[in-house]
Amino acid sequence: MQITNSKVAQIIELENSINLIKVHCPEIALSAAPGQFCNIKVSESTFPLLRRPFSICDVDGEFIYFMFNLVGEGTKLLAHKKIGEELDILGPLGNGFNYNDDYEAAVFVGGGLGVAPFPFLLQRIPSDKKIFSFIGGRSAKDVITYGQKNYLISTDDGSKGFKGNVIELLNENLKLIASSNIKIFGCGPTPMLRALKDFAIQNNLNCEVSTECAMACGFGICQGCPIQAADKEGYYLVCKDGPVFDVKKVVI
Ligand SMILES: Cc1cc2nc3c(=O)[nH]c(=O)nc-3n(C[C@H](O)[C@H](O)[C@H](O)COP(=O)(O)OP(=O)(O)OC[C@H]3O[C@@H](n4cnc5c(N)ncnc54)[C@H](O)[C@@H]3O)c2cc1C
Ligand code: FES
Repeated sequence: MQITNSKVAQIIELENSINLIKVHCPEIALSAAPGQFCNIKVSESTFPLLRRPFSICDVDGEFIYFMFNLVGEGTKLLAHKKIGEELDILGPLGNGFNYNDDYEAAVFVGGGLGVAPFPFLLQRIPSDKKIFSFIGGRSAKDVITYGQKNYLISTDDGSKGFKGNVIELLNENLKLIASSNIKIFGCGPTPMLRALKDFAIQNNLNCEVSTECAMACGFGICQGCPIQAADKEGYYLVCKDGPVFDVKKVVI
């Protein structure tokens, strides 16, 4: 983990007002693993005070990409960065996905901006694995397909793809995957992750999810990001023990 003064190389506006920021950040790019995140200081002033956490969306040589939506002050400031401007980035943080396990089919399940860590994971997943992706959103404008592979889409309102939520879509298509050795990688809003956990346990499937919560330090000092443990007494810290957890280890 290190603090870097990275340079903004490009800001790309994707479909549906989603932004992609490309930064030159060799220190982090060369050591990052899929599922890890960075804590970004979005402004040189003391406002906003706290850094903002973002999943590493992709890595290309010495460059890192982050994908973000405009939700508040921090992301607005990030979207208005100029090319060449310096950005103070702390990372890589957290644990990342275990993508080198023994499985035949990798099943990606993403809701809304939850697809953000998947391009990097897809880049690193061994080439002998079969890939299936299920991408959901409330409506067509919330579905993000940037950098995804072999995907089916669901929308709650039926405005694009399957009408229903992404877990229902997965359930409908589980037989098509035709493998007895599946590993699910999930990322998205908490209710989606909760439903995905239930689905994985009912179907006896191996499943890791990337969890989210409000964060301050990002590396285990402030104790501000607890998630209740399901396999022991007490809590894990999302920033240090996660953000990726086997669904059996945490209460979602
Ligand atoms: C490990 C991790 C990885 C993340 N990866 C991404 C990513 O790749 N792309 C991305 O766009 N966002 C990601 N987030 C969420 C991102 O950090 C927040 O959206 C961001 O901090 C918002 O900053 P802001 O100043 O724009 O909004 P704020 O003004 O801080 O918040 C605006 C609104 O969003 C809510 N909010 C803020 N953070 C979260 C959160 N983590 N979960 C739920 N609601 C929240 C606030 O309560 C408030 O209502 C990630 C969060 C974590 C913990
Ligand atoms: S954010 Fe400080 S301990 Fe996790």
